Amino acid sequence: MRNLDQHTITQEVIGRFADTPDPRLKEIVTSLVRHLHDFAREVELTEDEWAKGIAYLTATGQKCDDKRQEFILLSDVLGLSMLTVAMNNAKPPQCTEATVFGPFYVEGAPHYENGDDVANGAAGEPCEVSGAIRDLDGQPIAGAKIDVWQADSEGKYDVQRGELDHPEGRGVLHADSEGRFHFHSVLAEAYPIPTDGPVGELLAATRRHPWRPAHLHFRIEAPGYETLVTHVFRSDDEWLDSDAVFGVRQSLIAPWVRRDDGSYSLTYDFVLNPVGGRG
Ligand code: BEZ
Ligand code: FE
Repeated sequence: MRNLDQHTITQEVIGRFADTPDPRLKEIVTSLVRHLHDFAREVELTEDEWAKGIAYLTATGQKCDDKRQEFILLSDVLGLSMLTVAMNNAKPPQCTEATVFGPFYVEGAPHYENGDDVANGAAGEPCEVSGAIRDLDGQPIAGAKIDVWQADSEGKYDVQRGELDHPEGRGVLHADSEGRFHFHSVLAEAYPIPTDGPVGELLAATRRHPWRPAHLHFRIEAPGYETLVTHVFRSDDEWLDSDAVFGVRQSLIAPWVRRDDGSYSLTYDFVLNPVGGRG
């Protein structure tokens, strides 16, 4: 194994992982080496370029803290987040589709009763959201836990506002005995993903825009069902066909209806997949 060249090195490296006891780790690391080496050969990667690549990954790590996850953002704009969602959420077509989780979920959001206002001070046009959580047979899933979070009229999540000392535009509710839920909030608006870091540099250098179409995030959990992480997108949004993180699904687009008093309403029903599939 001396005098390895640009062709023989790949098999030699893969061979060094031959004794990996965990078969899944072995499969992943072997495939990673194969694809990384093929990539370097395909683009004829120079030493200078790889040094820049390492500096880029270093800066990405350095941008991360407990409120900011630049690696998730990088995975999102490379389409890797949505690819893994698509591969791991196959289910019957009646079920509500999943989409990207995103970096703005906060565990332990305030609990609300049905009918409450989850905006809690967030700026925006008033909006009422209602719907039902059902199973594949259309039966209500009473008590389902519903986490909702959203951006305000400036396209900002509460966690992006350093000055805020309380949660806004997020909350936890439970479906009633008929599987129904209902809350007040503000109209979700389109927003750019954070561009003040390495991901923003990549988007600028490649002439890509950072916008996400307006949406409301949901995470719905109930015993015996797969947890659903998804959004509902506003049907009138201009970015639906070029979401910066590739998360839009036709079935998740819905109209926010403008009422005579200027407020908005959204109705959307969710269908959960039973754990292990139907009986
Ligand atoms: C979000 O929808 O909150 C989001 C998803 C991916 C990247 C940035 C934000
Ligand atoms: Fe979002």
